[in-house]
Amino acid sequence: MGISKLTTEKVKERVDIVEVVGDYVPLKKKGQNMWACCPFHNEKSPSFSISPAKQIYKCFGCGKAGDPIQFVMDIEGVGFTEAIRHLAGKYGIEVEEDKERTPEQDQAQSERESLYIALGFARDFFVKNLQTPEGKSIGLSYFKERGFSPVIIEKFDLGYALDGWDHLLKAAKSAGFQEEILLKAGLILQKEGDASRVYDRFRGRVTFTIHNIGGKPIGFGARILTKDKSQPKYINSPETAVYHKSDVLYGMFQAKKAIREKDNCYLVEGYTDVVSLHLSGIENVVASSGTSLTEGQIKLIKRFTDQVTVLYDGDSAGIKASLRGIDLLLEGGLNVKAVVFPDGEDPDSYSRKVGSQAFQDYLEQNSRDFIGFKIGLYKDEFVKNPIRKAEVIREVIQSIGKIPDPIIRSVYAKEAATLLEVEEDVIHTELNKSLLKTQKDHYNQQQEPQVPETGFEEFLPTEEKTQFSDILKVQEREMVRLLINYGWETLDQEELHLCDYLLAETQDLEFETPVYEKILLTYRQILRRGEVPSVDLFIRQKDEEMRQEIIDLITPRHEISNHWHERHQIFINTESDNLSLTGFKSILRLKRRVVQKMMEEAKQKIKSAESDQEADVKIDELQKIYFELKKVQLEIDKELGIVIG
Ligand code: UTP
Ligand code: MN
Repeated sequence: MGISKLTTEKVKERVDIVEVVGDYVPLKKKGQNMWACCPFHNEKSPSFSISPAKQIYKCFGCGKAGDPIQFVMDIEGVGFTEAIRHLAGKYGIEVEEDKERTPEQDQAQSERESLYIALGFARDFFVKNLQTPEGKSIGLSYFKERGFSPVIIEKFDLGYALDGWDHLLKAAKSAGFQEEILLKAGLILQKEGDASRVYDRFRGRVTFTIHNIGGKPIGFGARILTKDKSQPKYINSPETAVYHKSDVLYGMFQAKKAIREKDNCYLVEGYTDVVSLHLSGIENVVASSGTSLTEGQIKLIKRFTDQVTVLYDGDSAGIKASLRGIDLLLEGGLNVKAVVFPDGEDPDSYSRKVGSQAFQDYLEQNSRDFIGFKIGLYKDEFVKNPIRKAEVIREVIQSIGKIPDPIIRSVYAKEAATLLEVEEDVIHTELNKSLLKTQKDHYNQQQEPQVPETGFEEFLPTEEKTQFSDILKVQEREMVRLLINYGWETLDQEELHLCDYLLAETQDLEFETPVYEKILLTYRQILRRGEVPSVDLFIRQKDEEMRQEIIDLITPRHEISNHWHERHQIFINTESDNLSLTGFKSILRLKRRVVQKMMEEAKQKIKSAESDQEADVKIDELQKIYFELKKVQLEIDKELGIVIG
């Protein structure tokens, strides 16, 4: 339905970009603008900026940009009118319908909007059914038996689908809905062999409404109440234009506020677990609805928190499911904890059994990080069986290897060593193997070159080489030199080898100088084979160019300058005194050069665009990029302690 111009104007006057975006992602203030990790693409460091002054957002990573209305359209996946309705709701602005709609406008209403309306109708229908005699005696009594209160039933839009072939179909048709829309919404089915005959999908079952993040119904899960084994326990809505299962988590609408507040998200298996946890006073909970987690669902969680606590059944199937989920979550860069329930209990049954306070206490006392969880599962077995122990070590290390952040990885490596009662070196060797394997798989899968961190690659020329290449080469050499000379040495905390750090930091950089690229590759291969990357191993390499370069790299060059320092009585630390600092600085210098090179390339592009008459927009864009790069460079300079006059 159309909305009056006046309502649209009111909404536009009232909206605030910070408030709107802040509903979806945590914001940090930096300078004039607010920054966040982009909700539209996967990233670890924020490149999504919000300008309160201009009331716009722009992601320098994926390029999405616009005003608050555009933001709502993008994030909720709705049209303009729906976005205005959404914002009007948020700000308590009364929506005035547009009285002068033409039939054409009616027609133009997007299909998605019709689906939302049909699904809303179905939700209301199922909810009302709970109050009919059949609904009361079957549906409502089932919910009561499970301890669901009226408040909870309302909060989750729980309902009942009457037993019969066409209760919903008839009601919807007489309310004016066309069969086509009901079909597309997944509410009715066509008879096999006779598509002209249609009937209700959900019959004689209690219904759980599945909401999108904005609270609109997008589908249903319907549970059987009889013991009839020939029927599936749950019937779920199919994938539709508004229900993309891989991007939806059941309960997110009701949980999002609490997840942000608690900075933690409980992850459970099904509808009833979510509802039961709410009954126990825990609101930061979502369910993957019986399927294994997807990347889209993990991204969804990451909009609200970086911490997930997995709650699955105490039985072996439940634990297996949780282990699969944990690795995916780790890969997504989330911190993962897990709680195991006593055998035979799931979150739903256990919370009902012990009551809400005891349940909350149980969660607090029994949540362990994933290392402790995984090792705990196998502890009994491997105490008796050393072969099993080796397997467990590999298992655990494989999970650690999924963590994108090298520092966090090394913290877990230490913990694993302690819990598994093995030397830390063993863990590191295994970890290197596993890391290099994943890196290799990653490279093999990936046809296109990696996107550089700044995400401006689309503007960069491919053909021209600039003088910056030479300076870049110096920094590349420096980094490789450190790697060859000190790579296997451990850093201050003794948790991490210098090579772990250097290789992780340069994983996404493509080295310009072929011989250094070759050395890096060889280094990774050696680690992958589980061998120690010693200098003599490199000198034995067949590749002549590489051998020459290695010899050059291990020959100290600073002897002369040391004399110079001695003569002038200047005391300097040698580079190996503080390897982590030396390594850190070398990486920063390298990255600084990469950024400078990109700036230079942007400048060239601006120049050539200036000669083009109609390139104003492009120049504008390029200049923005240039200044963004400049900002990155200044950040690096700050870190490096360089004072720019
Ligand atoms: P459960 O079997 O635990 O469902 O499945 P439940 O309703 O909690 O049953 P009880 O009371 O423990 O026996 C857990 C989740 O798996 C999904 C649903 O999301 C459910 O909530 N599921 C299960 C399906 O989607 N389809 C099925 O046939 C079974
Ligand atoms: Mn259950």
